[in-house]
Amino acid sequence: MDAGTGVVGLIGHPVGHSKSPEMINRAFRACGLPFVYLAFDVPPSELGTAVSGMRALGFRGWNVTIPHKVAVLEYLDEVEETAREIGAVNTVVSRDGRLIGYNTDSEGYLRSLVDETGLELAGQKVLILGAGGAARAVAHALAVAGVESITIANRTREKAERLAESLSRKVDARAVSLSELERVVGETTLLLQTTSVGMYPETEAIPIDPSLLHDRMTVSDLIYRPRKTLLLREAEARGARIHGGLGMLLHQAALAFEKWMGKPAPVDVMREALEEAMK
Ligand code: ATR
Repeated sequence: MDAGTGVVGLIGHPVGHSKSPEMINRAFRACGLPFVYLAFDVPPSELGTAVSGMRALGFRGWNVTIPHKVAVLEYLDEVEETAREIGAVNTVVSRDGRLIGYNTDSEGYLRSLVDETGLELAGQKVLILGAGGAARAVAHALAVAGVESITIANRTREKAERLAESLSRKVDARAVSLSELERVVGETTLLLQTTSVGMYPETEAIPIDPSLLHDRMTVSDLIYRPRKTLLLREAEARGARIHGGLGMLLHQAALAFEKWMGKPAPVDVMREALEEAMK
């Protein structure tokens, strides 16, 4: 590192468990780029000051994680369309002194799903469990990718209705209650789990009655800890194709790298760094 080293970062609260420093610093080294990636724990009350500071210090860009993905929008000069529609930013790029917000979770999810399962998205009948920030990002990606329909089931039905409404210009979208799942799962071809149910340390929790799972569906779970949730284990046992959450983590980081550096990310190197960091 010398005086010419560029800086990219992550702001969140907390940030201690993030795997991004490992993935992205490894990518910089592999490409011979004179940059470092650092994680900063920024409490919500300091968000505006932190953004001003990063702007003043000439950061090339940064990632944004919980709880700042929505609040950061008001400090940016420009927000790209996908991020605006999702209402959340996870990547900021400083270009000629202007701060531009993007959402790479959305495209990162699609890349991972298609890469790992080879799924043809056209014609999919999608059922999404959950209606929070993660659900918004992936639902938007699937709607734009041309799936046939999206049904959203959430504990708080009102939130599912709001998400369905916001998707309805792009895709046939509707909301159901968790109690109505039995009626819709039979025709589901892609079941997408976005809640925290089943996440470490509650690894024996499952968000849906496993007897509803069947072998005509792909089951995708955004959780990556554990890598194979109880939902995925039950789905696999019933002959469904399964997809875990680690690939989304990898690809959202790779896409952020591409936005900052203007060149393709060394995805294999980043995957290796992520696998090691998960141990
Ligand atoms: P994220 O950004 O990870 O999506 P979030 O915006 O807080 O986080 O959303 C969490 C989602 O998981 C919500 O859909 C939430 O349901 P509610 O809208 O009813 O709160 C869902 N969720 C969390 N814990 C749950 C549980 N124990 N059972 C069912 N759904 C749960």
